[in-house]
Amino acid sequence: MRIAVFSAKPYDHTFISRANAAEHHVFNFFDVRLTVDTAPLAKGFEGVCVFVNDCLDASVLQQLYEGGTRLVALRSAGFNHVDLAVAEQLGMTVVRVPAYSPHAVAEHAVALVLSLNRMTYRAYNRIREGNFSLDGLLGFDLHGKTVGIIGTGQIGLIFADIMHGFGCRIMANDPFPNPDANAFIEYVPLATLFSSADIISLHCPLTPETHHLIDAGAINQMKDGVMIINTGRGRVVDTQAVIAGLKSGKIGRLGLDVYEEEEQLFFEDLSQGVIDDDQFMRLTTFHNVLITGHQAFFTTEALTNIAETTLANIDAFESGSGTMHRVANAKLD
Ligand code: NAI
Repeated sequence: MRIAVFSAKPYDHTFISRANAAEHHVFNFFDVRLTVDTAPLAKGFEGVCVFVNDCLDASVLQQLYEGGTRLVALRSAGFNHVDLAVAEQLGMTVVRVPAYSPHAVAEHAVALVLSLNRMTYRAYNRIREGNFSLDGLLGFDLHGKTVGIIGTGQIGLIFADIMHGFGCRIMANDPFPNPDANAFIEYVPLATLFSSADIISLHCPLTPETHHLIDAGAINQMKDGVMIINTGRGRVVDTQAVIAGLKSGKIGRLGLDVYEEEEQLFFEDLSQGVIDDDQFMRLTTFHNVLITGHQAFFTTEALTNIAETTLANIDAFESGSGTMHRVANAKLD
C-alpha cells in the first residue's frame, strides 16, 4: 500500500523505515503538516499517516477522499484533531496507536515537576555564568505533599505510582475511576482536588468537557503557589487564565509540554524568525514556567512502538485480518 506520511521528521523516517524493513508498503515522507493547502500531496495515496498537529477537519478529509485516500493512520493515541463523524460518512477508516509508552509521558511529567521544584534549568545557566548564588532556587520536599491527578488512564496511573514513591499523597479525579488504580489513590471531586493539591498534573484527553478545564474559576480554588503540570493537551488549559494566575502569584510553578496554539510552533525550528504568538512569548518570560515542545512521548521505546503499531494497523487494513486499532465515531476497539 502507498502511504503519504505528513509532519515527517528525520526520526519518523528512521523508525518507520526500520519497521517496514520487509518493504511491504511504500512510504513517501512529507515534512509539512497536513492542512487544506498540503492535502493535494496525498493524491493517489490510499493511506495517510499523520501526527498530533496535522489537521483532519471536514474539508481536509473530503480532499483526501477525493484523492483516493481510504485509511488515516494516526501516529498518536489522541484523536481530537480528526472529524470522526465526517470520516465515518466518507467511509474512511481511522486507526491510532492506543499505547506506545505511557511511561515516557509520565516520566516526562515527573521531570517537569523535579526541574520546576528545584529550578535546575535556572541553576544550569547560572553555573555556566559563574553565578553560584542560591537565591531564587528554593524548592520544597515532595515527601508529604499532595498531588492531584486529573485523568487516571494509563499515563495518570504511572505518574501516580512514581509520585507515591516520593512519599506524596495522591488524589485523583476521573469520571471513570480506573479499576487498576492502586488503593493509595483517593478519588475526590474536582473541587476537593483543586483546594487540596500542591501539584496538579493533567492526564485527561481533550474533549468538550475538558476544554479549558483549568480556567480562572478553577485556579481561584487552588492553593496559593500551586504547581500545575500539563502533558495532556494544550486546550485543557486556558492560557490567559494561567498567565493571570502567574502574575498574581497564585500559580507558583507551571510546566507545559503542550500549548493551546502549539500547531503554529511546535516541532519546527523557528529560531531564525519572529514568533508572533504574544501569549506564548509572555509565558516564556516567567522564571517559574518551564515549557517543552510536546516531547513527553519522545523516547526510543515510544517511537519504536508507534512505528510498529502503525505498520500493524496498515497490514490489518490491507489484508482484512489481524488487529487494527480503529477509532470509530465515539467508540473505540
Ligand atoms: P487514557 O485514555 O488511558 O486515559 C485518559 C483518562 O482520562 C481516562 O481514565 C478517562 O476516563 C479520563 N478522563 C476523560 N475525561 C475526563 C475528565 N473530564 N476529567 C478527568 N478525567 C477524564 O489516556 P492516556 O494514554 O493516559 O493519555 C492521556 C492523555 O495524554 C491523552 O489523551 C493525550 O492527550 C496525552 N498524551 C500526551 C503526550 C505527549 O507527548 N505530551 C503523548 C501521549 C498522550
